[in-house]
Amino acid sequence: MSRIAFVNGTYQVQRRAAVGIEDRGYQLADGIYEVAPVMDGRIIDFAAHLDRMAYSLRELRIQPPMPRSALEFVCRETLARNRVRDGVVYIQATRGEAPRDHGFPKVPVKPAVVVSAKHLSWPSNAEDKGIEVITTPDIRWGRCDIKSIGLLPNALAKQKAREAGAFEAWFVRGDGTVSEGASTNAWIVDGEGRLITRPLGPEILPGITRATVLAMARAAGFQVIERPFSVEELLGAREAFLTSTTSLVRSVVAVDQRPIGNRYPGSVGRTLRQLCIDHYRGRVDA
Ligand code: PDD
Repeated sequence: MSRIAFVNGTYQVQRRAAVGIEDRGYQLADGIYEVAPVMDGRIIDFAAHLDRMAYSLRELRIQPPMPRSALEFVCRETLARNRVRDGVVYIQATRGEAPRDHGFPKVPVKPAVVVSAKHLSWPSNAEDKGIEVITTPDIRWGRCDIKSIGLLPNALAKQKAREAGAFEAWFVRGDGTVSEGASTNAWIVDGEGRLITRPLGPEILPGITRATVLAMARAAGFQVIERPFSVEELLGAREAFLTSTTSLVRSVVAVDQRPIGNRYPGSVGRTLRQLCIDHYRGRVDA
């Protein structure tokens, strides 16, 4: 079955769909995106993803490509046309197509929008062998809170991780603190069992999974402290884990080949992973 994507107003066979070569997303990475999880045909935390998308657009002064309710409809329709009941829905919006010029188009152009769907199999239980991460200097721009399609430093970091046999790269800022991963938020558990993750700000993406896990962890009685943590603290942590739409919660068992804890997924990570799976399945409110 051919994949179908919504491209600037019509549903098209994905491999034949095209956007103009002067689309500002293609030329200048002048655009934003969202990735939302889909389980049993439901789009999880959809409102939060659409709120973050609206924020990204507002911060870049890109007009919403369509009203929110229409976009919701298009996302559901794209999932249905691709028969995706478990997976992700991807939304991308750019400032649109205009003769190449760094400044915004003088004559307003229509923002471009693409929606696609992809099948994924979600985990059914907290089973997780744990993953390894590497650290890499955070060479990104100063507005990582915007979910921009300008992902070159993230792509290079992820590739570096893969070449090192690791799952993810965590960015380290000039002051020695960890900001986040190439496509994940970063957490540790200290010796007292407290969860530590960086507070929201321009250095990190406000992860939807981060917010969900934070709320569920607090509701489950864990103490969560939102503050930056250093690589040194990370290496001495009892546990470390990452969160994202597609990873949910995954335990980090080694950093730069140095073990975290006893090199096995810890109980906090496993508990939160299960809560996250239950939330996706609609059994637990965040
Ligand atoms: N990545 N930090 C970065 C830099 C990210 O790109 C992502 C998400 C996250 C986690 O956010 P969320 O919990 O909302 O998925 C944190 C997506 C999934 C991606 O690029 O595919």
